[in-house]
Amino acid sequence: MHPDSSGSGFVVVANRLPVDLERLPDGTTRWKRSPGGLVTALEPVLRNNKGAWVGWAGVPDVDLDPIVEDGLELHPVPLSGDEVADYYEGFSNATLWPLYHDVIVRPVYDRQWWQAYVQVNRRFAEYTAKVAAEGATVWVQDYQLQLVPKMLRMLRPDLTIGFFLHIPFPPVELFMQMPWRTEIVEGLLGADLIGFHLPGGAQNFLYLARRLAGQPTSRGNVGVRSKLGVVQVGFRTVRVGAFPISITSTELDEYSRRRSVRERAAKIRAELGNPKTILLGVDRLDYTKGIDIRLAALEELLHDGRVDPADTVMVQLATPSRERVESYKQMRGDIERQVGRINGEFSRVGYPVVHYLHRPIPRDELIAFFVAADVMVVTPLRDGMNLVAKEYVACQGSLNGALVLSEFTGAAAELRQAYLCNPHDLDSVKDALIGAIDDDRDTRRRRMRSLRRQVLSHDVDRWARAFLDALATDRVAGSALLSD
Ligand code: ADP
Ligand code: F6P
Repeated sequence: MHPDSSGSGFVVVANRLPVDLERLPDGTTRWKRSPGGLVTALEPVLRNNKGAWVGWAGVPDVDLDPIVEDGLELHPVPLSGDEVADYYEGFSNATLWPLYHDVIVRPVYDRQWWQAYVQVNRRFAEYTAKVAAEGATVWVQDYQLQLVPKMLRMLRPDLTIGFFLHIPFPPVELFMQMPWRTEIVEGLLGADLIGFHLPGGAQNFLYLARRLAGQPTSRGNVGVRSKLGVVQVGFRTVRVGAFPISITSTELDEYSRRRSVRERAAKIRAELGNPKTILLGVDRLDYTKGIDIRLAALEELLHDGRVDPADTVMVQLATPSRERVESYKQMRGDIERQVGRINGEFSRVGYPVVHYLHRPIPRDELIAFFVAADVMVVTPLRDGMNLVAKEYVACQGSLNGALVLSEFTGAAAELRQAYLCNPHDLDSVKDALIGAIDDDRDTRRRRMRSLRRQVLSHDVDRWARAFLDALATDRVAGSALLSD
């Protein structure tokens, strides 16, 4: 079925559609859920708002017609094989991704990739301009599409345009490496409202808007869902704020309490040999996630005799991600060697210490793992938010579990009662693991109760409402706000 030709009043634009087209060996195709936190967060929001979604279907060289699925319009934007290599794997994931994640891996600055980024951003803007109804609200997502707000405003000045960055916005000193830094800042300034997870990202952006785009900005501190910053761009007022993203917490809490899920969780524990402690990691296989760090911490704890391999099991679920990007290939090899080494040294026949699954896990099975795990281990070197941490907390209605969480995630700003650790300091990760494993029941329950209060009262609906309400609010005269 084709969407209504009058256009949509609410349009989300993201690099990926919420579903990927999968080509099967027999030549047929089917749709499957796309990876990553952006889709987890936005899909329920969009279904509630009956909007349209503009994005890539995840495979090169296919030109698909729009489809309507459960009342949600999907508008696929085609990418050629070269564009996937240069715009997606190249500029998005070998330049912007490492630059915005504290240069964990060295970013590559390639002029041809930049040209592809400009070209593909223009295509997204043109598709969106055709899909959006007169006066519509358009919400552009993430680092792959930072030029779209300005391009779209030039095509369609009638639109209200929001932009949200799902990954960290880097410190000014790092952003200044980017050869096309002014173009990126000006691209974002095409939006009416620019959202980041944390106030620090918003403040970094305000400084860059002054320094690189030469625009006057407010100077006061940005708050969380409050006290927006302001940039005056000619006659337009662009607002800048912090909106920490979340999950469908209540839904997940309820689902995780179902009898079928609890039974499956008990079965998982039995299948793992009924260990005293199940440690769990759930991530896209990405070097930012610190999978190597948690494995190194476990390995040292086993060596030190502080963790007993006879009663401890680690499960690492790792979705394949960006597999053709060199740094991802290398990291996969490193992690698989680490898993092999730990198992070679500490496992018994039939009882590996580390269970490593390199594939996406179906949602209901994943929730059963969250219920089964005694300790959730989240150790990124840098992460914009980390929804996995919040998903685990939502699934711990029993209050028995404990969360080990890197200070370098956006989630750590909200989940202060987690067992926080510095992933650059292996002793800190080891101590957090030991605390989470060994603390008495009452301490663990008290900490989990406090985490659940935060996660259950700040769900993804609240995030979307906070952003969209701010976007819809009349833009106050910039000069008044600039004086603060
Ligand atoms: P990112 O957006 O960087 O991938 P997040 O933690 O914010 O990281 O979001 C990841 C999302 O993908 C979560 O909803 C999580 O449940 C899901 N996910 C991660 N790993 C797996 C896996 N191995 N199998 C299935 N889903 C996964
Ligand atoms: O926000 C994190 C994010 O990069 C999303 O933009 C993206 O869709 C998701 O993770 C998964 O990554 P990819 O689309 O490159 O597979």
